[in-house]
Amino acid sequence: MNMIGKRENFGSQFTFIMAMAGSAIGLGNIWRFPYMVGEHGGAAFIIAYILCCLTIALPGFVCEAIIGRRARLGVYGAFSKLAPGTKWKWMGAACVLTSFIIVSFYSVVGGWSLDFLLRSLTGKLSHGNPDGAVAIFNKMAASPVESISMMAAFLGLTALIVLGGVKKGIEKFTKITMPMLFFLMLLIVVFSCLLPGAGEGIRYLIKPDFSKLDGDGWAAALGQAFFSMSLGMGTVLIYSSFMKKEDSIIKSGLWTAGSDTMFALISGFAIMPAVFSAGIEPSAGPPLVYETLPYIFAKMGQDAPILGYAVTLAFFLAVLTAALTSSISMFEVCVEHAVEQYGFKRWQAVLAFFVPGFILGIFCSLSFGPMKDVKLFDKTIFDLCDYASSNILMTLGALVFVLFVGWKMKKADVRDELTSGGTVRLGNGVFNVIYFLIRWIIPPAILVIFLINILQ
Ligand code: TRP
Repeated sequence: MNMIGKRENFGSQFTFIMAMAGSAIGLGNIWRFPYMVGEHGGAAFIIAYILCCLTIALPGFVCEAIIGRRARLGVYGAFSKLAPGTKWKWMGAACVLTSFIIVSFYSVVGGWSLDFLLRSLTGKLSHGNPDGAVAIFNKMAASPVESISMMAAFLGLTALIVLGGVKKGIEKFTKITMPMLFFLMLLIVVFSCLLPGAGEGIRYLIKPDFSKLDGDGWAAALGQAFFSMSLGMGTVLIYSSFMKKEDSIIKSGLWTAGSDTMFALISGFAIMPAVFSAGIEPSAGPPLVYETLPYIFAKMGQDAPILGYAVTLAFFLAVLTAALTSSISMFEVCVEHAVEQYGFKRWQAVLAFFVPGFILGIFCSLSFGPMKDVKLFDKTIFDLCDYASSNILMTLGALVFVLFVGWKMKKADVRDELTSGGTVRLGNGVFNVIYFLIRWIIPPAILVIFLINILQ
């Protein structure tokens, strides 16, 4: 009896962590992290990123989870329940806005993965010429028809899955593709590090040059930590509302942050050595990973054609599913909100977000082609969406969650959640340190980084 009880408990905590890791691990790790590292000077950025994860994102995760598990409701409901009659509940709408913007530009990058999956099917990636590989991305991005239709296909697939309620099926599929992705990435790390000229890239990742890390870099590191851990937009809150009372929030946060960061680092080591080997500019921005991957696979195909073909295909299939599971959960946030708060029918809600998402997606797609010179605040529309969601919306969202736990919730309730109703051992001293951090250190830290970034 005891054994079964124990196993069930372990099972549920494990399932929760897997679900959280599934949401966290996505294009943010594979595509966004390497390009951020390249834009902000390599190893120094990685150190800043890890620091931000441990000192700000992890406590941010804990706060969001505390609210979710305490209320056992979605964002809007949670704030209505824990702080009735106040304006905190408008966070619900803010989270929908963030999700919506991310889904739109995420679909562009998801579309690139779909495009590359189709190319790898026909062997174009693994049997190409490494010298011409970099141009593949540019040709694709410069063609409005190709990039828009791929974005539309990805967004459409996301909408259809949410509409059809086959989300669970896709998530089962990720039980195979996620570990597959992990092992393929490790394989690519080894391959990439053995490429001619790779040493320069490895040095770039491990020898920090702090002179390259300015306020912008710190803001980007914090934004990346939030983006990658899916923080500040209600996802962690909703997931945690289903978390068992006796599970440890801190432990779940540590596992999520740990697995997410590990995936990001592996991705950095898979991409950056090849960037240097191929002579690509590390600061190439969002295209970086998709310019580099064709080079890696063309080289691999030269050495081992059949293995190269199989690895390429499996890799993009895995990237596509990782991206889809992320976009599905973001789209779901939007749809659920419209259904619950405004009484939309499900198909109406799906349509109500698909159409504007598609339109914003078009502008984001064109930011790499005909509209690359159209700039607002010195950024293309894609860059603006990417930047605004993580450096502004998710950052402010996380700040609100932390402030709520530190200043609005009762201290006893926070303690109750952190100790899981007394079942998780947490010394008084440790609790007081965490509580002090949540009240006095983390909010100003987020605010300072945010302001430096805005005012710069
Ligand atoms: N963390 C995801 C990634 O790294 C992206 C993401 C941000 C996300 N917010 C989310 C995924 C909300 C699911 C739900 O790719």
